[in-house]
Amino acid sequence: MKITVIGAGYVGLITATCFADLGNEVLCVEKIESNVHKLQKGISHIYEQGLTEILQKNLEEGRIRFTTDMEEAVKFSEIIFICVGTPQSDDGKADLSQVEDVSRQIAQYLNGYKLIVEKSTVPVNTHQWVKKTIARYAHEKSEFDVASNPEFLREGVAIHDFMNPDRIVVGVESEKARTIFEKLYLPFTNEGHPLLITNPAAAELIKHASNSFLAMKISYINMISALCEKVGVDVNMVAQGIGLDNRVGEKFLNAGIGYGGSCFPKDVQAFIKIAEDHGLEFGLLKETEKINAFQRRAFLDKIEDIMWINKDKNIAVWGLAFKPDTDDIREAPAIDVVRELEANGANLSLYDQEAMTNFKNIFPESKRIKYFEDKYQALKDADALLIITEWDEFKQADLKKVKELMRLPIIIDGRNIFEPSDMGEFEYYSMGR
Ligand code: UDX
Repeated sequence: MKITVIGAGYVGLITATCFADLGNEVLCVEKIESNVHKLQKGISHIYEQGLTEILQKNLEEGRIRFTTDMEEAVKFSEIIFICVGTPQSDDGKADLSQVEDVSRQIAQYLNGYKLIVEKSTVPVNTHQWVKKTIARYAHEKSEFDVASNPEFLREGVAIHDFMNPDRIVVGVESEKARTIFEKLYLPFTNEGHPLLITNPAAAELIKHASNSFLAMKISYINMISALCEKVGVDVNMVAQGIGLDNRVGEKFLNAGIGYGGSCFPKDVQAFIKIAEDHGLEFGLLKETEKINAFQRRAFLDKIEDIMWINKDKNIAVWGLAFKPDTDDIREAPAIDVVRELEANGANLSLYDQEAMTNFKNIFPESKRIKYFEDKYQALKDADALLIITEWDEFKQADLKKVKELMRLPIIIDGRNIFEPSDMGEFEYYSMGR
C-alpha cells in the first residue's frame, strides 16, 4: 500500500522504515530540512539498533522517500500517519499544537478520501479535534476518517517492537477504515499478532493506560525496595516471588533508581491531567510519580551516607542514558545525580557508550566534570563508582581491574546489576538489598 508518514522523529522514522520494509511504498514528510537531507542519504539522526540498515535497504529498493513538501505528502496516499511530537507543556498537559498544525495542513491538500491516523500519543478524544479541524479548514468537501493507532515502541528496541508487537491497537469509526487497517496489518495478523479493533477514544485511552500501568509497576517494586532496605530483604527475591504469578508477570519489576525517558514521565503527567480535566483525582499515578522522585533522592542520600563528604571526592559514573541501548538522556536519573554531586563539589568522571555527546549539552567538560571514552579510564583514583544505567558492558566488567584502578573500592549500584555475594572485594551498595 501507499503510506504517508508525517514526522521523522522516534516514532515516525521507525513507522516509515518498518512499513517500507514490509513492502509498502512510503513517503515520510519532515519539517527539519537538514534531517530530510540526511535521511535521503541513509543517515539517521536517531540511534536505534538496526535502523540504518533497513533505512538504507529500503532507500536503495525505492520503497521509502523523504520530503519537506506537505502537499506532495498529503496527496501521495489515502492513509496518513500523524507522528509529530506531543511534548509535555509546563502544566503537565500534552502540547497538541503540532497535531493541530498538521491537521490544518492536511485539510488544505485533501484530494479524495483520506484515513488520517493518530500515532502520536494524544489525550483521549483528540480524534474529535482532528476531525473538527480538518472539516473546518478543508478546501473541498472530501470524505475522510480519523483513527487512532497508538505505538508501543520501547526506545533502543523500537524496530524489534514494531516487527514483533504484543498487540496492534486501532480505533476506527467506519468499515472503510477497518478494512484499510486489516489490509495494512495483514503481515502481522498472518503471524498471529493480535489486532484489536475498537473505537478511537478507547484506542487513545489504551496508550496512556498501558504506559501509566508500566510506570506504576516500576514504582510499586521501588516502594517495596525501600521497605526491603528497612527490613533486610533482597527486593530481587521479592520481585521473583511475585513475578512468578502470571497475573503479575516478571517484567518491569527491576527495582533501582527509577524510570526516566521521554515517555513514562510525560505520559503519567498527561494522564493525571486528563483525569483532572474530567473531574477525577488520579492519586495512584501521583503516588507513582512521588515514589519515582523519591528513588533518586534515596540514591543521593545513600551516596552521602556512604561517602560522608562529597566535596573533592573523585566519583566515577557509569551510565548516563535513561536506559541501556539508547543515547537518549531525557529525564535520565544521571542528570539529577550529576547535578547534585557537582553542586557539592565532587570531581566527576563520566562514561556512557552512547549518551556522552547528549550529556555534554547539559554538563560541558569542566574542572569538576570529565568524560572518558573508556569505562576503566574513568575509574582512575576514584573514591566511588556509581552505576546509573544497566548497560551490559558494566555487568561484564573485569572487577579485578576495577578494584586495582580505584583509590577506594566503593561501588554504589543504582540498577542492582551485581550480585552482593560476588562483591566481597568491595564496599558494595545497591537498591533494596
Ligand atoms: C516506554 C514503553 O515501554 C513503551 O511501550 C512506550 O511506547 C514508550 O515508553 P521507553 O520509555 O522507551 O518505552 O523505555 P522502557 O524500556 O519502557 O523503560 C522506561 C523506564 O523504566 C527506563 O528509565 C527504565 O530504566 C525504567 N525501568 C524499566 C525500570 O526502572 N525498571 C524496570 O523494571 C523496567
